[in-house]
Amino acid sequence: MTTNSPVALITGGTTGIGHATAKLLHARGWNVLVTGRDPDTLEKARNTLPSGVVVLPADARSPEDAARVADELKQRFGRVDFVYLNAGVSRMAPLEALDEAFFDEIFGVNVKGALFTLQKVLPLIPNGGSVLLTTAVGIAKGAPNYAVATASKGATAALVPPLAAELAPKGIRVNAIKPGPIDTPAFAKLGLPEEVGAGFRALMPQKIPVGRMGTPEEVAEVAAFLASPAARFVNGTVVDVDGGMATAF
Ligand SMILES: NC(=O)c1ccc[n+]([C@@H]2O[C@H](COP(=O)([O-])OP(=O)(O)OC[C@H]3O[C@@H](n4cnc5c(N)ncnc54)[C@H](OP(=O)(O)O)[C@@H]3O)[C@@H](O)[C@H]2O)c1
Repeated sequence: MTTNSPVALITGGTTGIGHATAKLLHARGWNVLVTGRDPDTLEKARNTLPSGVVVLPADARSPEDAARVADELKQRFGRVDFVYLNAGVSRMAPLEALDEAFFDEIFGVNVKGALFTLQKVLPLIPNGGSVLLTTAVGIAKGAPNYAVATASKGATAALVPPLAAELAPKGIRVNAIKPGPIDTPAFAKLGLPEEVGAGFRALMPQKIPVGRMGTPEEVAEVAAFLASPAARFVNGTVVDVDGGMATAF
């Protein structure tokens, strides 16, 4: 990559959708920096992403870590053109089993983390840059045991209109992707007993009009479009990438 190449930050870029987007943007000539928290997935990402991609440990819940990520971007590239706030956790539990730690973990990553990461890197986003938040098809559907994760993704979607309005004068676009069920490691992290998790996953294709789950690469293509100048008139919106799930009867 050259110093003239655009720069992307992808939080949670060590697996799944973020990992696929890092690969795609790198192949299209971007400088890419991804973050993650788990030492094992960080190490795997270093081995599976192209060597030019910077892989940085940073806990998405921590504004201090976000400030460190901003420093790293400033020192390496001097700016960040595309901020993909993709890091997310999704866990299921019945209402009776919820506690504050469960709530704080999910809202800490999905809502607080996204907002404060954006705050820390904002000074580095030039006119013409863009931000992409991550919500989920679940905000339009009711799945039992999913109240906290669904509410966190509803809050994330609600960030889009005010942030788009606030950052438009700086020439920065703000959108979100609303994925349907995508085949990533996320399904193994729902906190369900193995058999129940497998049953939940197996149910998905029946709920999606195209009859299958999506791939991380299919979401990456949409993210890359929204990051590109071709999307310069797309602002303040939430884009469904769900095989028609949200609008199906
Ligand atoms: N897959 C789906 O069906 C689906 C549907 C709707 C929305 N989404 C959303 O899409 C986004 C990507 O999900 P995915 O399916 O690609 O899941 P994934 O493979 O589990 O990826 C999640 C990423 O977020 C990172 N992450 C989680 N907690 C973190 C923390 N505290 N600090 C830093 N990084 C953290 C993970 O890194 P570690 O390995 O270090 O934890 C990983 O890189 C998420 O926001 C998710 O909610 C996914």
